[in-house]
Amino acid sequence: MSAVIPSKCWLNTVLLSDKFGRPITDLRISITDRCNYKCIYCRTGNEGALYGDLPFADYLRMARLLVGLGIRKVRITGGEPLLRKGVVDFVGELAKLRNSDGELLDIAITTNGHLLAEMAQPLKDAGLRRVTVSMDAVDPDRFARITRVSNGFDNVLAGIRASRRVGLWPVKVNCVLMRGFNEDQIIPFGMFAREEGVIVRFIEFMPLEEDRVWAPETVVTLDEILLRISEYRPLVEIPHERSETARRYRFDDGIGEIGIIAPVSHPFCGHCSRIRITSDGKIRTCLFSVWDHDLHELMRRGASDGELIEFIRGVVARKEERHHIGEPDFVPASRTMVHIGG
Ligand code: GTP
Ligand code: 5AD
Repeated sequence: MSAVIPSKCWLNTVLLSDKFGRPITDLRISITDRCNYKCIYCRTGNEGALYGDLPFADYLRMARLLVGLGIRKVRITGGEPLLRKGVVDFVGELAKLRNSDGELLDIAITTNGHLLAEMAQPLKDAGLRRVTVSMDAVDPDRFARITRVSNGFDNVLAGIRASRRVGLWPVKVNCVLMRGFNEDQIIPFGMFAREEGVIVRFIEFMPLEEDRVWAPETVVTLDEILLRISEYRPLVEIPHERSETARRYRFDDGIGEIGIIAPVSHPFCGHCSRIRITSDGKIRTCLFSVWDHDLHELMRRGASDGELIEFIRGVVARKEERHHIGEPDFVPASRTMVHIGG
């Protein structure tokens, strides 16, 4: 067995990696677990419980320490992050940080898009690079049935178009497929990707929803998605980064890109580079972690930066090797997606 040699940056800091030698370069910070949508693959139909959120200064301190340890990409998530007043200024503060090579961070946001039309320009001006919008149907009635919100579709479409207009690039659209609800939207979404100039990513449904309706049969798999879409136009696979969640494809005529995120049928844990901070300040080392690590409690008790860094290193080293979706020993995650952030 070869020893894993930790990488160092120019300041001679040992950069974050776990015991399997996976470098940790992507941070996701959830800034609220409130959401104005109740998507069937994520939320329950009623209000649900809340863990709450923290002042932005606390997330910023966590981000600053983690960026010093090798984080290069920060994705802001929720709940719905655009519900949180102050998100634009938060992006502005993140945009001042430099990664361990002295470069600016890649700052992105995942949003349901409902409030995006009016916020795209201020977010871009503050330093946001790109945006991912959740949208699970291109048909407005179907969209309303999935999100359990009657007037959302037009807002989300306007948000996607505004993002393109202001130069948040690329705009990615996440579509979680759930059998019986939206697998007939695959081809319309292929057309949408071509017409709107966005990257549509189909996501296999994972057991992270509040209502516990997941079963293997509800998952529309990568193979099935590829088959469906090739009835419309042939696809050509294009290379993707090893740590990227999506396999990427272009249509044969070069117009339009789609992605498939297949954590159930083709897990990508072996190249995972992600850790998460929840809205209440816990570190999660995996979407499917059965416990989280209370970084905020340490901060509240007055821990120094050095003590926080030591804690972070210890937690990250013990990152889970992989998820166990669909296996007999699967234990549900300690939180559902709306309280993790995607
Ligand atoms: P970029 O590559 O930076 O564009 O981001 P991304 O594709 O990693 O981010 P995004 O938030 O769009 O994630 C897409 C979806 O992939 C999420 O909503 C999850 O459904 C899924 N996903 C993201 N990270 C993980 C992970 O670590 N494990 C699993 N199983 N699924 C993940
Ligand atoms: N399975 C897969 N993806 C999910 N998302 C939310 N819940 C699930 C789930 N159960 C994705 C949505 C959103 C992101 C935050 O997480 O597509 O874009």
